[in-house]
Amino acid sequence: MHEGANAVLTGEMVRAGRAIARIEQTELANAAGLSLDTIKRLERLRGVVNANPTTLAMLRRAFHAHGVHFRIDEDGRSCVFLETTGGDRRVDRIEEPGPEPMRICRAVYYSWATPETVRDAPGVLDDILQAAVALNGRLGVTGALLMANGFFVQALEGPPPAVWEVLGGIAMDRRHQSFTPVDRIEVAERRFARWIMCGIGAARAADLAAFDPRGLDGAGAVELLSRLSAAEDSALGEPHATS
Ligand SMILES: Cc1cc2nc3c(=O)[nH]c(=O)nc-3n(C[C@H](O)[C@H](O)[C@H](O)COP(=O)(O)O)c2cc1C
Repeated sequence: MHEGANAVLTGEMVRAGRAIARIEQTELANAAGLSLDTIKRLERLRGVVNANPTTLAMLRRAFHAHGVHFRIDEDGRSCVFLETTGGDRRVDRIEEPGPEPMRICRAVYYSWATPETVRDAPGVLDDILQAAVALNGRLGVTGALLMANGFFVQALEGPPPAVWEVLGGIAMDRRHQSFTPVDRIEVAERRFARWIMCGIGAARAADLAAFDPRGLDGAGAVELLSRLSAAEDSALGEPHATS
């Protein structure tokens, strides 16, 4: 059990969490400070909950207040736990089957950098890449991250549980907002196999000064990131991270 690993929330996990906490949708909505319609919408979703980080944080807090925690276990499964008094946390456990077993999946999202992040763009990108070298390297995740015109676009590839674990942390990161999943698919092979995380900042994306990712689909995003990372790919060797 990775205690530090925040499982990405799925609609199924929200339903399961409410079931083991034995609370109604209205009660969850009130506890989270969200509308009943939002809770209903999230619970109808199949797969990863597509909500902004603030909504997700409010939802997690409300679940925590009811003793419900979402974790990724050692087999990479997303689990819903109910905490008890007396130190025994593991009373009730619902294992989500999650997506079909996939060899490698690729997740793509875009987000807005906060104004503070934009002000210190090169420094932030460096910090992110340092974190990526440590975590992605350990989990076997590869990918590319573009920061241009105040937007981030990132592709992450790897075993699905690993990609979910990394994404869970990224979605909660306060250095960006409006985290918007674009795609999550099974792939036959990695497109960014040479990169733990290829960081592409303003200096290398000069032609993207007016860049806006909102019209991008998964394939378009991967093509763009592939083109930019190929330009970086002159140095052969071990997988690496760069900015
Ligand atoms: C746009 C963006 C992309 C990120 N990409 C990664 C990544 O690929 N791998 C990673 O470990 N952290 C990434 N991070 C940083 C994580 O959100 C987090 O700060 C980092 O994993 C350290 O987490 P910790 O403080 O909980 O240890 C990214 C952050 C942002 C804002």
